Amino acid sequence: MAGKFPLSPWEITEEGFAPENLRENESLFALANGFIGMRGNLEERIATGAESIQATLLNGVFESSPIVYGEGAYGYAKNHETICNVMDGKSLLLYAGDEALDLGRCDIHSHLRTLDMRRGVLRRSFLWHTKDGAELSVEMTRLVSLTHQQLAAVRADVRCLSGETRLRLVSELRPTEISEGDPNDPRNAAGKNRSLHTDRLEAQGDLLLMEQSTARSGFHIFCAVQNRCTAGGTGTVDGSAALWETEAELQAGEFFRIEKSICYTAERIGKQTMSAASPDEACRLCKDAPAFDTLLQEQEACLDAFWEQAGLSIEGDDALLQGLRFNLFHLFQSAGRDGRRNISAKGLTGEGYEGHYFWDTEAYMFPVFLFTEPSIARKLLEYRYFILPQARERARVLGHAKGALFPWRTIDGEEVSAYFPAGTAQIHIDGDIAHAVREYWQATQDLEFLAESGAEILVETARLYYSHGFFSEGKGGRFVLNCVTGPDEYNVLVNNNVYTNMVAEENFRSARAAMCLLKEKAPAAWARLCGALGYTEEEGAAWMEAADRMYYPAPRDGIIPQDDDFLDRQPWPLESIPAENRPLLIHYHGLQIYRAMVCKQADLILAMTVFGDRFTKEEKRKNFRFYDHVTTHDSSLSMAVFSILACEIGELDTAYRYFMSSARLDLEDIQGNTKDGLHMANMAGAWNGLVKGFGGMRCRDGALHFSPVCPEEWTSYSFRLGFRGRLIEVRVTRDGADYRLLRGEKLTVFSYGQAVTLLPEA
Ligand code: BGC
Repeated sequence: MAGKFPLSPWEITEEGFAPENLRENESLFALANGFIGMRGNLEERIATGAESIQATLLNGVFESSPIVYGEGAYGYAKNHETICNVMDGKSLLLYAGDEALDLGRCDIHSHLRTLDMRRGVLRRSFLWHTKDGAELSVEMTRLVSLTHQQLAAVRADVRCLSGETRLRLVSELRPTEISEGDPNDPRNAAGKNRSLHTDRLEAQGDLLLMEQSTARSGFHIFCAVQNRCTAGGTGTVDGSAALWETEAELQAGEFFRIEKSICYTAERIGKQTMSAASPDEACRLCKDAPAFDTLLQEQEACLDAFWEQAGLSIEGDDALLQGLRFNLFHLFQSAGRDGRRNISAKGLTGEGYEGHYFWDTEAYMFPVFLFTEPSIARKLLEYRYFILPQARERARVLGHAKGALFPWRTIDGEEVSAYFPAGTAQIHIDGDIAHAVREYWQATQDLEFLAESGAEILVETARLYYSHGFFSEGKGGRFVLNCVTGPDEYNVLVNNNVYTNMVAEENFRSARAAMCLLKEKAPAAWARLCGALGYTEEEGAAWMEAADRMYYPAPRDGIIPQDDDFLDRQPWPLESIPAENRPLLIHYHGLQIYRAMVCKQADLILAMTVFGDRFTKEEKRKNFRFYDHVTTHDSSLSMAVFSILACEIGELDTAYRYFMSSARLDLEDIQGNTKDGLHMANMAGAWNGLVKGFGGMRCRDGALHFSPVCPEEWTSYSFRLGFRGRLIEVRVTRDGADYRLLRGEKLTVFSYGQAVTLLPEA
């Protein structure tokens, strides 16, 4: 066992049923495909005595409501956006005689629920000793199709082992009962308007159909459920739900199967964010859905291909391996795949953070996709290009004549962060996106993307920084960026946050480099962009001057201040803060936090991992120790970053401790809020911890460099990376590292600074 779950390389299994774990297990057992997300709710929906959070979420589909400020001001975000918890099509109620299946009341044995990460299904099995004396063996299988974006399916098999009973199954399509979250926790959607209107509800033979709409944001959502079973059944509309019912007398040895295909489509009136959808289309897709067995095969084939690219191993720690695979599985299933949807902070596993997309995507999750599934990485960047028009408008609102400011949090491109000091002020989001564009180019050499969208993103974000900052006389003519919030949200509206200045500097350089590259390699695209954006060589030269003269606060006794004033803030020793007062953000007023020398997620440490070549080993060592003492890790995004830097400075024990806390954070519910959804950036952080931390992987000037170390707790470990059309595997033991080229043409990588040429295997 590791925590609550038995050790198994490809599965997470809940043995028995613990009502107190239901809500977090619903997050852990969620299934998704980048569009549809279904929490791991029980098919019969509820169990007496257990609290449940019911949800079916559609990525990118949201309701909006006006933000009501007690005291508004110019340019504040105007609207909330909250992901819709749409109608539930997955439920299936079982009755034996008059007894309804209820884990809290029935005589249930051997209850097992398994998330199978290789086959992409959630399986469930149990024995039911019914009141009328039968013994039933029940198996349920659920999937959200990774190959058909609109489709999910459920199968239930009931076998009578002894006795007899009248079995009744009711397949439901109903509005989801929405649980209110904790109104004191700003991280969930409590209090936001999430109600949907049911516009249509029908039962047509074996097909159930429902249409819902949002009152304000203009979404129409359709769900069709096609029920299949040899005994046939009857559909009815009952109040707010459509039901399809079938029954059979089951004798010992007899078997009964029902399958339901569930299809979701959505459109947004007047916006181009969604493809047009209609009830007819939902019904057609549902009726034409491949058979359940075919869906199972397709699902497994899709995951085989993913694991082939994303494979990793850890010899000596099965719990860790299980945790890392779990993380990758959820990342893969949560990412939008159409360039219109992104990946939210909780993926599609819960309503925490309201389904919003943050910098989490580019700074944490993007590298995972870039090196395991680059087609998804591209789609995530295409999404940013898609919302570029709103980012331009936002920059105008903020007084910039040129450039674009991406929203700190959003679904459809509008800034929805009501608290600007920890929202809009985080202008590092532009640099994070620009950094991802740069990384994407380095790892794929995808000139088409650069020409069509990448360069334009780089130009517009560089312009934003150029307009936000200025050459300050007070700072010796250096280029400064004042009044920003870095990733560390416990230090807001600061001057010259090192991380922000570094991403901005890189942005200036890569924007100009991209335009020079296009001029040489894609002159027509270059000419088009120059015309459309009004870009000139002079502008590029001005950015270079700002980059060359970028200001950074001077170290004091070797400690680099995170921003101009960080070291002047009042110390607040972490030992003096009682454990029950963590995280600080829900126990202390901002004014108390912001004037203290305390970090939520030290962004200087982040800067040292992203821009490692800018700092010496000694600087890294000294600053790591310092920031380690002032950081609360109140954000789940923090620990993995500390783990990466600790590896680099040779503090392997510390690295290991941070890494382990982050790798199974949700499986162990370390932050206590897994029930609201999984921490996707942290999950990606753990992958980064393995590959960039222990593996020491960095991409420099278009080449991969490694300096792997093996913690003594493991015998060896390996990971795979896709890079410029190749697939390579890095295997690390305590004696050194071995590199294999599994696919593609020869490639030179660097191992501890030495060039190693990898040749195709015979
Ligand atoms: C972190 C942010 C992050 C957000 C969503 C916050 O707690 O401070 O950096 O973007 O969570 O994950």
